[in-house]
Amino acid sequence: MNKEENVIEVKNLTKNFGKFCAVCEVNFSVKKGEILGLLGPNGAGKSTIIRILTTLTRPTKGRAKVANLDIEKKSDEVRKHIGLVAEKIILYNHLTADENLQFFGHLNGLSSETIKERSDRWLKRLSMEEWRDHQSGTYSTGMKQRINIARALLTEPEILFLDEPTLGLDPQTTWLIRDFIRELNKKGTAMILTTHDMHEAEILSDRVAIVDHGKIVALDTVENLKKLVPNIENPTLEDVFLELTGKDIRDTAKKSAPVERRGHFGGPTNNRVR
Ligand SMILES: Nc1ncnc2c1ncn2[C@@H]1O[C@H](COP(=O)(O)OP(=O)(O)O)[C@@H](O)[C@H]1O
Ligand SMILES: [Mg+2]
Repeated sequence: MNKEENVIEVKNLTKNFGKFCAVCEVNFSVKKGEILGLLGPNGAGKSTIIRILTTLTRPTKGRAKVANLDIEKKSDEVRKHIGLVAEKIILYNHLTADENLQFFGHLNGLSSETIKERSDRWLKRLSMEEWRDHQSGTYSTGMKQRINIARALLTEPEILFLDEPTLGLDPQTTWLIRDFIRELNKKGTAMILTTHDMHEAEILSDRVAIVDHGKIVALDTVENLKKLVPNIENPTLEDVFLELTGKDIRDTAKKSAPVERRGHFGGPTNNRVR
């Protein structure tokens, strides 16, 4: 593979929080125009990888280049080449869609004309034109996410990071966003997309990295990943995923004592007849 073609190169990337390794010695690259899916359970380290590559947090160890620029030494330069649709929607609720886009556009040093031209284009494409003068706080989550995506695209970045872009959205909005992601990619935008939706990973990604406990346990095309489970006939990506990452539930509650529940009549629930 020609190294020149890589828009992202990650070498032994590691992020520790205290003694806990959130991202452990991760290696991968993304080619020009490629979509790499990061598929993993909650807490796998997907968002942390994105936060490091978008210069929001520093790695503990390892190196990475984005657009051929070292993320630590050239972080300001890196930011000019990337767009981020983060896990949390970044919008001011009291501003309209137009005002939000103007604000973030100016923050990125764009002219009013450029912002207007790009806002018109993206708002139309994302079916948000008729809502552009409404306050963002009145929007549904799907509408907010569409503006959030338009915001990330104002600088027309060559590399886009999407952190669970369709999480919790209705099927129509999900379809629109996925269709839009494919369209951007056809025009040459490289992307890293995180998801725990198998279908999304499969239909959007050129290659998928399965991330678990801060490590990449497999990285390949979906077709090749399916060859990793010869014991299963016609495996789905979900079969591969569960085979490689196991079936343990990963969610953990914040440390606190469980709430004491009382029965319907005020008595403790463990008094019920067995
Ligand atoms: N700022 C932080 N301080 C301490 N632990 C963190 C911090 N950010 C993330 N973590 C932990 O790192 C692990 C990976 O988190 P994250 O990258 O958000 O996972 P994912 O996006 O795959 O769900 C989780 O166990 C999370 O609790
Ligand atoms: Mg996450």
